[in-house]
Amino acid sequence: MTLRAGIVGCGGISRSHATAYANLDGVTLAALCDINPEALNARADEHGVSARYSDFEEMFEKEDLDVVSACTHAPLHGPVAIAAARHGVNVLSEKPLSVDLQTADKMRAACSEAGVRLAVSHQFSFTPPFQEAKAWIDAGLIGEFRSVREIGKGRPAGFELMEMGVHYFDGMDLFLDGIEWIHAQVTYEGHEVGVEDIMTSSELCTTDKRDNGIVAGDTMMIHIKGKNGASGIMELYRRPQVQGWMMGPHILGSEGQLMIRPNPETFVDELWHCPFDVSFPSHTPEWQKVPIDPERFRIGEQLWQRRQSIWSVRDMVDSIREGRQPRLGGAAALISLECVFAVYESHFTGARATLPLKERRHPLVSRLQTV
Ligand SMILES: NC(=O)c1ccc[n+]([C@@H]2O[C@H](COP(=O)([O-])OP(=O)(O)OC[C@H]3O[C@@H](n4cnc5c(N)ncnc54)[C@H](O)[C@@H]3O)[C@@H](O)[C@H]2O)c1
Repeated sequence: MTLRAGIVGCGGISRSHATAYANLDGVTLAALCDINPEALNARADEHGVSARYSDFEEMFEKEDLDVVSACTHAPLHGPVAIAAARHGVNVLSEKPLSVDLQTADKMRAACSEAGVRLAVSHQFSFTPPFQEAKAWIDAGLIGEFRSVREIGKGRPAGFELMEMGVHYFDGMDLFLDGIEWIHAQVTYEGHEVGVEDIMTSSELCTTDKRDNGIVAGDTMMIHIKGKNGASGIMELYRRPQVQGWMMGPHILGSEGQLMIRPNPETFVDELWHCPFDVSFPSHTPEWQKVPIDPERFRIGEQLWQRRQSIWSVRDMVDSIREGRQPRLGGAAALISLECVFAVYESHFTGARATLPLKERRHPLVSRLQTV
């Protein structure tokens, strides 16, 4: 049976979802929706899609879709998912799943009651370099696993946490066998973040128009405790913005290190290994690229060696065919977002925030409301 896919939001990331659906066997990109006709027509023309909508409710009403990608900014992921669920459509939401946990809970409940899947698109952790790094850790090839570290691209931390931090939490969830608690400190212009520093994401980050809801802080130091005893360390601070190819997990064990970085020229993701637990300049030549069979990157006709959305789109499509949950579906869809709010909860209470969070209200919004 050919699955019929749709996309709501035809901006930047929709290119990756549309390409994914167009390249997966047994799937047809059937309908697209955007309120901006230019964006809609550009994406639809690229893929020869004639069913074009400016209203997603109308799209769900008229098109008999099996799956939809929610590729709008985060505040609309909830309304799109809930409308899709009403029409029996499986939902792959772009990250962050929502801008608050109460909406995320409603999305999950609506999809569960309708008997459709809800998953979040964190494609990195599906890719062969991430899976290979996890296999090295599990096989003890870097000794006792100690930590995994990520840094942001330089945008103010409150914005970055929603934009890249959620991807990093997802990777850490994989490497750490689940996240137990988070302890974080958040500062703004050098002082501890207080209620007066809570603002909208567009006020905090004027260089990126994406709406990530209510945020706070330009610098964050985040300690993430894994269920396997190792730690995650996330450092997000404002600095001259760097390119995505400088990003990737740095994994430390008692007998070695692993690093995943896209090649700066080809953007192909690479896994590197160093057989020491600490790096010194003299050890630098010891970093070796870990060979990964290129065939592991094959999906259909092509090798997908960058962090394209096809990795999470394929899991959603396969999950529908196989009658299972997507790997980042159900409760797992909420984990990276819970981590975001655990950061603020920990900062304001000065204590560890244990996952899953009992408090579902937005920790920043509820503090604003008590002022
Ligand atoms: N997984 C990844 O690696 C990755 C990468 C980039 C962006 N993202 C995420 O994808 C989401 C979208 O980001 P983007 O960079 O593509 O944004 P974008 O601004 O380029 O695109 C958003 C699109 O949504 C459309 N839109 C707005 N309201 C709509 C409505 N009511 N109905 C239909 N369409 C509507 C806009 O017109 C726009 O074309 C964000 O949540 C972002 O964090 C994920």
